[in-house]
Amino acid sequence: MSVKQVLIFDSGVGGLSVFAQVLKVNPNISYSYLFDNAYFPYGELDHDFLIQRITRLLVSFSEKQPVDLIVIACNSASTAALQALRARFSIPIVGVVPAIKPAAGMTKNGVIGLLATPATVNRTYTQELITQFAVSAQVLKIGSTELVKLAEQKLQGATVDKKQLQIILQPWLSLKEKPDTLVLGCTHFPLLKKEIAACFDNEVNLVDSGKAIAKRVNQLLGHNRAFDAISQHQAYYTKSFSSSKQHTALQSSFRNYGFTALKFYPQG
Ligand code: DGL
Repeated sequence: MSVKQVLIFDSGVGGLSVFAQVLKVNPNISYSYLFDNAYFPYGELDHDFLIQRITRLLVSFSEKQPVDLIVIACNSASTAALQALRARFSIPIVGVVPAIKPAAGMTKNGVIGLLATPATVNRTYTQELITQFAVSAQVLKIGSTELVKLAEQKLQGATVDKKQLQIILQPWLSLKEKPDTLVLGCTHFPLLKKEIAACFDNEVNLVDSGKAIAKRVNQLLGHNRAFDAISQHQAYYTKSFSSSKQHTALQSSFRNYGFTALKFYPQG
């Protein structure tokens, strides 16, 4: 039995937060990580353009490499393109959408904060999740690309600017009744979990979809016993970096997550 191949996809480094959870539950798999930095940030892109771009890129990638399952480790992409991708591919496509349902079960004060990209907070998909699962709660929203960029910079070795983070979260921090539960509705944000929690004096639940995705991958692929030596996980980007320093810093972050290589993917 050959080792299964899973592709994790995002616009940037956010998918690493999902990958870490997926790997924990599904260790005997060979992973590729593709991030489309040529079109980063996805949270600012038009819905239809995003569908076209992602479909073209993933079709091209899966024609060059064997892939058994794709994880769209990006809420902005999943809330737009899941349906189209599932229609296009015969392999399973697992998507990440904001964890509104678990958050609704967790909140004590009935105030939930949805922290996502500008695209995700405005998607019909997201509104439907709120209507379906959190109708009795108050769901506040912040859509922030700046926060996505802070996470990118962190994985390129920069220190997170706490003041900037507080400015982004200010609409909630200044409330009398602050949200007691935040949905991290962008896969970049679990990378800033500690910093976000600190803004709320660590008195907040932070909910993301990583564990649920890991479980879903396991259901779809089953338990893969280790037959071959694996851990040849490779990462790919679609646009060259402006400096070799940036590449080196990012490569070191990817190495920490278990990737042996970080290479350019000529997107076609
Ligand atoms: N990581 C992505 C998400 O979950 C999007 C970040 C971006 O490119 O805007 O939404």
